[in-house]
Amino acid sequence: MKYSTSLLLASAGWASAIIQQCSGNAVNEGGNWFCGKINHILYEGFVGKGSFKAVTDMGSNGECKMEDKSYNGPLAPLDADLSIHVRGPIQLKEAAVYNLAPKKKHSTEAPVQGRSLGHPQGHEHQKKADMVTATIDGKVVSWQNNWFGPPTTTPAPVKADMITATIDGKVVSWEKNTMVTATIDGKVVSWENNWFGPSTKAPAPTVTPPPAPPHPTPPAAGGPQARSKLPPTSTSPSDWNRVAYYSSEKQVVENMVFMGNYGGQGSGVFDYTWGNSLAYLNADGNGGASSPQILKDINIPSNQEFSIFSAEKCDASCGFSRAKDIAYKGFGGATKVFLFHFKMPLDGDRGNNGDMPALWALNARIPRTGQYNACSCWTTGCGEIDIYEVLAKGDTKCKSAFHLASGACSSDFFERPVDKFIKVAVVFNEATASVSIQRLRDNTDFSKGLNNTTVQDWIKGPKDGKLSSLFQLT
Ligand SMILES: *[C@@H]1O[C@H](CO)[C@@H](O)[C@H](O)[C@H]1NC(C)=O
Ligand SMILES: *[C@@H]1O[C@H](CO)[C@@H](O)[C@H](O)[C@H]1NC(C)=O
Repeated sequence: MKYSTSLLLASAGWASAIIQQCSGNAVNEGGNWFCGKINHILYEGFVGKGSFKAVTDMGSNGECKMEDKSYNGPLAPLDADLSIHVRGPIQLKEAAVYNLAPKKKHSTEAPVQGRSLGHPQGHEHQKKADMVTATIDGKVVSWQNNWFGPPTTTPAPVKADMITATIDGKVVSWEKNTMVTATIDGKVVSWENNWFGPSTKAPAPTVTPPPAPPHPTPPAAGGPQARSKLPPTSTSPSDWNRVAYYSSEKQVVENMVFMGNYGGQGSGVFDYTWGNSLAYLNADGNGGASSPQILKDINIPSNQEFSIFSAEKCDASCGFSRAKDIAYKGFGGATKVFLFHFKMPLDGDRGNNGDMPALWALNARIPRTGQYNACSCWTTGCGEIDIYEVLAKGDTKCKSAFHLASGACSSDFFERPVDKFIKVAVVFNEATASVSIQRLRDNTDFSKGLNNTTVQDWIKGPKDGKLSSLFQLT
């Protein structure tokens, strides 16, 4: 985020009480300090307790009403829902968000939905253990989760660990697995398919398993662009579940909505008091749209920005939103993983924000009120994490930082990926009250599940400790 001098003064407190590792010699370049190049940084010592001023109203007369909002938790307020922000020059190839998988229950309970997505109230699929209901391609469908343990009379050719349903007149089946994903009431939700065997009062299947189709295809919830919403093919349950995903090449988006400060262009609002609210981003990433679009596989030029929210519509937990009908939650929880696959090419622009790419996340309350006007909780420390941010035009060093009640900015830096795509993980880990940023191996797969070993390694950083930095906030 760009900040004016006055805003910087507002967050003074900045350099005090900080123990930080500086890898190499500190050099001051135009007011920013730089130490050594790193591939991993661990931030520890978050205060986790305090309050900020939450916006409650934005009056047409320019009045910004606020109220105190307290927070408490190891990573608070970063446990709030965060929106992801991107400024060019950048090409974002993939982005993914993960949450801890719900604990597996070997019981006949109804499927449990991933906790990050909130609990849909009163849906049929919650009520009966053996039925799954979902809206697929706009139709409410339900099917019997017809896995009742080892079959006594195997109805060939359906495999015992397959779930079969008729959707759009087609018989489809997919492997009984750990996750089911579907669009329910416009939200992409997934839950653990935790029906793992014969219940003591197991009803006999009332649906005769139909013959397997020639090419069994799992249902792609949400239409043709959502093929990757297929149940995972791996049979080992994962510790972390992917809850949101975007691939520019495949033009796939799951539980993500692209937005930009283009209110008045197709969606959102504009007025001369507060300027542009958020709007849906058009597919070219350079204006508004009237409905959610999938961002094309393109380079976003200098001084052009967009943001990513979840596809979950706001409720009271979001607080005040300026454009209420297009208000979406960010990605919440004190334990979450963001993965990014991107390139930040040099474009030589020396205008406003020229050649200063950035990747960051904000308490989603900020953009929902005003990312670049004074009426947001930003100045009172509701939360920002700079993940990879270039601070000078054309520079090839990317710094990370936190803007909370006070600020924290490591002088160690990542190399700007000017000519190749790289992958980066940000892990928010409540258990250790830490946040890590890790440059990943190029072959890291943004798959549907991650195991705990992998995520723990990203928190700890490289085993040899090389190019790794530690920053203690308190
Ligand atoms: C965890 O996942 C990684 C990457 O998929 C894999 O290489 C590794 O073997 C897995 N480890 C465990 C303990 O399952
Ligand atoms: C992951 O590993 C850490 C460190 O070993 C452990 O504390 C935590 O409970 C594990 N989490 C899960 C979900 O297995």
